[in-house]
Amino acid sequence: MPEEYRSRRSCLAVPGSSQRFLDKARGLAADEVFLDLEDAVAPAAKEAARRGVIAALNAGGWGGKLVAVRVNGATTRWAYRDVAEVVAAAGRGLDAIILPKVTDPGHVVWLDLMLGQVEQDTGDEPGRIGIEAQIEDARGLARVDEIAGASPRLRALVFGPADFMASVGMRSLRVGAQPAGYVGSDAYHYPLLRILVAARAHGLAAIDGPYLAIGDLDGLAGAAASTAALGYDGKWVLHPAQIDVVNRAFSPGQDDYERAELILDAYRYYTSVEHRGAAMLGDEMIDEASRKLALVVAAKGRAAGLRRSQRFEPVTDGSAEHPPRGEGLGQPAGQG
Ligand code: GLV
Ligand code: MG
Repeated sequence: MPEEYRSRRSCLAVPGSSQRFLDKARGLAADEVFLDLEDAVAPAAKEAARRGVIAALNAGGWGGKLVAVRVNGATTRWAYRDVAEVVAAAGRGLDAIILPKVTDPGHVVWLDLMLGQVEQDTGDEPGRIGIEAQIEDARGLARVDEIAGASPRLRALVFGPADFMASVGMRSLRVGAQPAGYVGSDAYHYPLLRILVAARAHGLAAIDGPYLAIGDLDGLAGAAASTAALGYDGKWVLHPAQIDVVNRAFSPGQDDYERAELILDAYRYYTSVEHRGAAMLGDEMIDEASRKLALVVAAKGRAAGLRRSQRFEPVTDGSAEHPPRGEGLGQPAGQG
């Protein structure tokens, strides 16, 4: 877990061809917004959308959100101009480029080189703009480890369920939902875990793709809770109504967050003051592995804006227990 963990719980897709949606997206509570030049934009509208996206980036006002542009895939005729024109004209307003349909590490290398060329030309900080690579077909999944290691600009791997379902022949039209008739528990488990492991092996975030049934917020909540539990950092959203559901699913619960912070404090105390590698916290044993787990939950909680109300207090009666008392925080603490 990187020291400065940045929340990417909800990643809002905004069609680059719609001025209305571009304007509206600024005020929404998504952690990341991406302006789409790919599948949400019809071929005849690509050039105008590119101009609209440049204008929207230069107008700013994104309020601290991560801002990305999804360009067209590296093998399309639009891709080189998407990158060159958007980054040259509006790169300073951009945190990352999302590259769809990555099937080969060479696609990422191409984008890395293109970004470097534009940065040299404009004098912008070299290497600042990140890359998020979408893994959305069988070929991309088969090479996901190489793709994840293809550039130091990579920030995230993103699962693309719609394209993936089509690529493997999944017999369903309900993107992000379980296919009817499947008797296993989660038809997406393999690609999701495969992408997650490749992402983590290279220090990258892992983002789940969209849930297309906008009206089915319960289904979305279930799908988001499942990938959040697996370890994913966030999920795409396609509509403002999906943002809160997804933000909630990817924020640790308050109790888990408090517990994680207590574990970190307690572990620090027991290892540095009492020189013990393992100790009891409440009725649970904590050790170095517990600390690593707690770091994940604490980082996600802090980045999601959670605040702690309990402090760790060591007990001095010889046992390694610590009934925390909420010292200085005006709130009685429960058992840690
Ligand atoms: C997203 O791009 C998807 O294919 O699901
Ligand atoms: Mg796709």
